[in-house]
Amino acid sequence: MSIVIPDPNCPAVIASAPKQLPPTAAVIFGATGDLTHRKIVPAFYHLAKNNLLPDDFAIIGFARRPKTDDEFRQDLGEALRKYSHTKPVDEEVWSKLASHIYYFQGELDQVESYKRLSQKLNEIPESAKIGGNFLFYLATSPEYFGPAAKNLAAAGLSSQQDGVRRRLIVEKPFGEDLHSACELNKTLQAAFAERDIFRIDHYLGKETVQNLIYFRFANSIYEPLWNRLFIDHVQITVAEQVGVESRGGYYDHAGAARDMMQNHMFQLFTLTAMEPPASLDAESIRDEKVKVLRSIPTPSVDFLQANTVRAQYGGGFINKKAIPSYRQEEKVAQDSLTETFAAARFEVDNWRWHGVPFYLRTGKAMAASFTEINIIFKRPPSALFAASSDDRLRRNTLRIRIQPSEGISIKFNAKVPGKAEAEPVDMAFSYRGGFDHYLPEAYERLIVDAIVGESTLFTRSDEVEEAWRLIDAVKGAWAKQSVRDLPLYACGSMGPVESDLLLEKTGRYWVRPKELS
Ligand code: BG6
Repeated sequence: MSIVIPDPNCPAVIASAPKQLPPTAAVIFGATGDLTHRKIVPAFYHLAKNNLLPDDFAIIGFARRPKTDDEFRQDLGEALRKYSHTKPVDEEVWSKLASHIYYFQGELDQVESYKRLSQKLNEIPESAKIGGNFLFYLATSPEYFGPAAKNLAAAGLSSQQDGVRRRLIVEKPFGEDLHSACELNKTLQAAFAERDIFRIDHYLGKETVQNLIYFRFANSIYEPLWNRLFIDHVQITVAEQVGVESRGGYYDHAGAARDMMQNHMFQLFTLTAMEPPASLDAESIRDEKVKVLRSIPTPSVDFLQANTVRAQYGGGFINKKAIPSYRQEEKVAQDSLTETFAAARFEVDNWRWHGVPFYLRTGKAMAASFTEINIIFKRPPSALFAASSDDRLRRNTLRIRIQPSEGISIKFNAKVPGKAEAEPVDMAFSYRGGFDHYLPEAYERLIVDAIVGESTLFTRSDEVEEAWRLIDAVKGAWAKQSVRDLPLYACGSMGPVESDLLLEKTGRYWVRPKELS
């Protein structure tokens, strides 16, 4: 694998990658969409700013609306100034990059458009050096993923004849259940080889997520403790303060379990629970992640009904901003039963984790925005020392903060000065304080990796399917409950009371995030 601590002079690059990316034409399908404006083009801009893009690099935006190259460049420039994570935008870098950006008007479901695209790719000024090396980025709505792949193949654009590179990036959501994910895998694999399909889970592009592998396997002190003998349970929380905002149309069909658990949260889960891989190459790491999912037997309906929670946010204010109740959000059904909060207990039935619950929770319109993993160790015996607030000593907790305030801290018991009592204290490392490096955005790293063919930070077909097996079971158990309403939770809270009870019934509690302490 190629995860390295970034070099300050060459930030987003990876160890095995060349200093500059090879000449490539990146075709973005869904070029007038939100993702292109907010994430993809700003990522290309940062790659250009860090000198990673060669002169013979081109970006072709494929979309339906009529537009000239200049209009397209102007739209992207405006979006960049708004969404770039570094400001101000370096206008010189941008105008150079913009001169290599082209617009192509086409219909995603018509093969004729792809034939014309093929012609266009041969006509752009950079084409001679690019030599047929293309990266196709499917940033469209998901119903076009399959048709676009088929049409690329039909137009001869996926063919790797003559040793050219033809790669496909696919955005999420990857299917909406196990069946559709399997069908999509079949369609994509009929057009491209699995090693050339890059399924995005942008959490894998986050430095702090990649650091999980370093933290666990580049240190010798944690591995002996990382198992059922020492760990009581694990908590993974992805909380967001924002509501669904303008995404009601998509979200009301998806819900928290599909939108966050099946992908981002399972990535955090498997990286936390996996065995040490035999090597750091993509297949070894992905093999170990899949093994974790395979070691979770499909839970029964009874287990899931007792050990999952779903809820919707009611209206309220967060940071003085009014948020409507979920059912009043734009494009959300007034009798919607879609969950905006989900919590679940999963058990990995292998030698390392047998009997250790993994609690996952995620929600919108919550008290704070943060993602963290808490490893809660077994409680020490209390015979020797009294604790100040409880008659039992607190459990040691390792907090891995994925975002924001990225860092790692450990809570341990210490003597309260002047008293014969113990109290928990924190020992903390801050990622930003510890390294003064540029922290690339997830998409920068992922685009680089797809261009050089490095698959570690992308999900493999079997991994996606295993994750759907579990989420299908959760959704299936919920579908069997006849409810007319879901529990509501207050905007700006940490979810419904049922979520607290999920842990409290076994004598556990959710670790409070620093923001709320
Ligand atoms: C997306 C989900 O995949 O991830 C969104 O569709 C969610 O609903 C987003 O808001 C969270 O990503 P991040 O990087 O802001 O934690």
